[in-house]
Amino acid sequence: MVVGAQWGDEGKGKIVDLLAERFAWIARYQGGHNAGHTVVAGEQRFILQLIPCGILRPGCRAAIGNGVVVDPQALVDEIETLERAGVKVAGHLFVSWRAQVILPYHRMIELAAENAPGRVKIGTTTRGIGPAYEDKMGRRGLRIADLADADLLRAHIENAMAEKNAIAGALYGTAAVDAGKMFETYRELSRRILPYAADVSLLLNRAADAGEPILLEGAQGTLLDIDHGTYPFVTSSSTISGGACIGAGLAPTRIGGVLGVTKAYATRVGGGPFPSEENGASGDMLRERGREFGSVTGRPRRVGWLDLPLLRYAIQLNGIDSLLVTKLDVLDTLKEIPVCTGYRLDGKPAAEIPARAADWERLEPVYEVRPGWGTPTAGMRRLEDLPRAAREYLDFVAAQCGTEIGLISTGPERNESIIVPGSQLDRWWRGASSAA
Ligand code: IMP
Repeated sequence: MVVGAQWGDEGKGKIVDLLAERFAWIARYQGGHNAGHTVVAGEQRFILQLIPCGILRPGCRAAIGNGVVVDPQALVDEIETLERAGVKVAGHLFVSWRAQVILPYHRMIELAAENAPGRVKIGTTTRGIGPAYEDKMGRRGLRIADLADADLLRAHIENAMAEKNAIAGALYGTAAVDAGKMFETYRELSRRILPYAADVSLLLNRAADAGEPILLEGAQGTLLDIDHGTYPFVTSSSTISGGACIGAGLAPTRIGGVLGVTKAYATRVGGGPFPSEENGASGDMLRERGREFGSVTGRPRRVGWLDLPLLRYAIQLNGIDSLLVTKLDVLDTLKEIPVCTGYRLDGKPAAEIPARAADWERLEPVYEVRPGWGTPTAGMRRLEDLPRAAREYLDFVAAQCGTEIGLISTGPERNESIIVPGSQLDRWWRGASSAA
């Protein structure tokens, strides 16, 4: 399994795309088209939001698990983009019957709520993710399976619209949306999507029984987890490894290992705590060199230094066996690299990660400044080629986290990567186990 160890955008897309070569299945288990993986394959550059990047590998099958919230329009658009680029989607993509469907009113409610006076502005991606999960947990959601029944779909949309229009009109003064038109649109979208619908949990379990390697692909990151992240500045799903079992329908005993992806520094999109945020010239440099602009929304990302207390927290929550460090090359020009090694609260060392958003503001990060290497590492493919200071930076991170570093990424291309010889990842790489 691959999870994000920060606030998302760690570069999971590239890592999963690289590892996909060794796997028969790649499955998403949470989130929706709020995620955005940029994958560079040769001359082509894809932004995949819903479909796992395994779809780009001919021998690999891509699955969207029950824990995902699916926007049918976004899914159809993505299928068409891939098909236009010559990627074979039919027979390679499987969408769970049990996945929840995002409807236009989810976005309508979210936009209105985000901008309502007195509400905490989360800075969401406005894709309707939160309201769709609300309806799921409220047991009034629509699932992919329901799309197969036109009468049920019509009744669902009419009932939901009566309720949502009343709420949005009364609370936010939003204009009513027409249920009839929505039904027609969704009826048409259903025709496009249903050929891909399947019992994904069953397929994955059968594949695991047959010894086929499965890679579960997390979206967003640990600190955006609904329970363990920087609440309320989080997404509405369980992004951590535990969420994968529920969202894919695979038992915990099936999980072979957990890979955690972190950048060599830190970024965050949207509001919320970010103790090691860097707003000065170094921050601008990281943003420019790292091209830190959202792949879904185009928003400039907030940038900062690697935060080891939060990385250790992510390692603990996910049970990360091996850390995969991306974008090392972005640090190439720095003379000195601050790393957050702890926090102080009211003048005393703070041991715990705060539960209340307001307490984060009072934390003062403690930095250890590591020497930079000042030479290009971009595109390097062998550990021994890295400058000494770069290797020492990575050794420092691994020692502070008590976890190995299994892979270092030095550029966006698949082959701009170093798999650390002798690491657990290296061993999996050479003989992928049945579930990871
Ligand atoms: P939502 O998931 O659209 O509800 O947004 C909730 C929070 O998660 C916002 O701060 C978003 O910026 C953030 N977020 C959601 N998806 C991603 C992602 O794929 N990468 C980075 N941040 C994300």
